[in-house]
Amino acid sequence: GPVSLLGIPLELGAAEAGSIMGPAALRTAGLPALLGAMGHDVVDRGDLPHPAPVDVAMAADDANVCRNLGQIAAWTRMIHDHAHGMAREGGFPIFLGGDHSLSMGTVSGIARHCHEIGRDLFVLWLDAHADFNTPATTPSGNMHGMSVAFACGDPSLRPLLGDRPFIPVKADNVHLFGLRSIDTWEREAVRGCGIQVSDMRDIDDHGVSTLLQRFIDQVAAAGAHLHVSLDVDFLDPSLAPGVGTTVPGGATYREAHLIMEMLQESGLVGSLDIVELNPFLDERGKSARLLTELTASLFGRTIIDRPARQIRVA
Ligand code: ARG
Ligand code: MN
Ligand code: MN
Ligand code: MN
Repeated sequence: GPVSLLGIPLELGAAEAGSIMGPAALRTAGLPALLGAMGHDVVDRGDLPHPAPVDVAMAADDANVCRNLGQIAAWTRMIHDHAHGMAREGGFPIFLGGDHSLSMGTVSGIARHCHEIGRDLFVLWLDAHADFNTPATTPSGNMHGMSVAFACGDPSLRPLLGDRPFIPVKADNVHLFGLRSIDTWEREAVRGCGIQVSDMRDIDDHGVSTLLQRFIDQVAAAGAHLHVSLDVDFLDPSLAPGVGTTVPGGATYREAHLIMEMLQESGLVGSLDIVELNPFLDERGKSARLLTELTASLFGRTIIDRPARQIRVA
């Protein structure tokens, strides 16, 4: 099927405004045109409209701490419906964000489709942050810091999806890659839940190639769908300043391209989020351009032809 682009101009999950312009900046940087020029069949579905807020049947104590709860819930349900539909159609969806709360909708929509066809789902979360806060642990109330907790089935966040069927992702199938900023209670929660973590120390010790190949081998052995969620702040701020939550010591240019090339070679990636781009904070389109280049690597651009990589199935 085609590569389907869906713009999600959402910024209500973040502290800082501006990621509403993310989808437009990625188009201006030439992402759709570049994939097309590489020979892919690209369909751009445009941007989702801003929905009216909905009532959320969440405990009052929890609801009170979640910023923009009614609007985030409305977005989550709408995004979920689109992600589920796009997965069913069989193409490769790319979700152009928008802040990282949009992944509550994309991951749950993809998970629902995988469940329907009896396929396992793995998630690679490329991010400086764990996004594993809940209403009980969040220091900020910003819902982009809760997406992984939601996707893994945190019961306090379940009401966001309303009456849609909710299929949680197994924590064991989620890999937080590039982590270097985590809140106190969030750290406790990550420790206890079975989620996989490659933090920056692990990357320094072992390199991205070893760590990522291990995960790819797991996904291959399970014959699973791999969803990749790329937060701009995964990258070092010197390369990608266009994000509201920069953290020093991020992935280098070469690490990021290597990851994308390995993912391409695996043949396992079925869907992608590109999130948290804030063009208002960017420097002359630098971050948007880098994200476009990384997407090209994920879709098969290489420096020179390479021999097929041996996929090891454990
Ligand atoms: N952990 C912090 C919080 O919960 C920051 C989260 C940043 N998340 C992101 N998607 N950029 O507020
Ligand atoms: Mn994030
Ligand atoms: Mn389906
Ligand atoms: Mn982040």
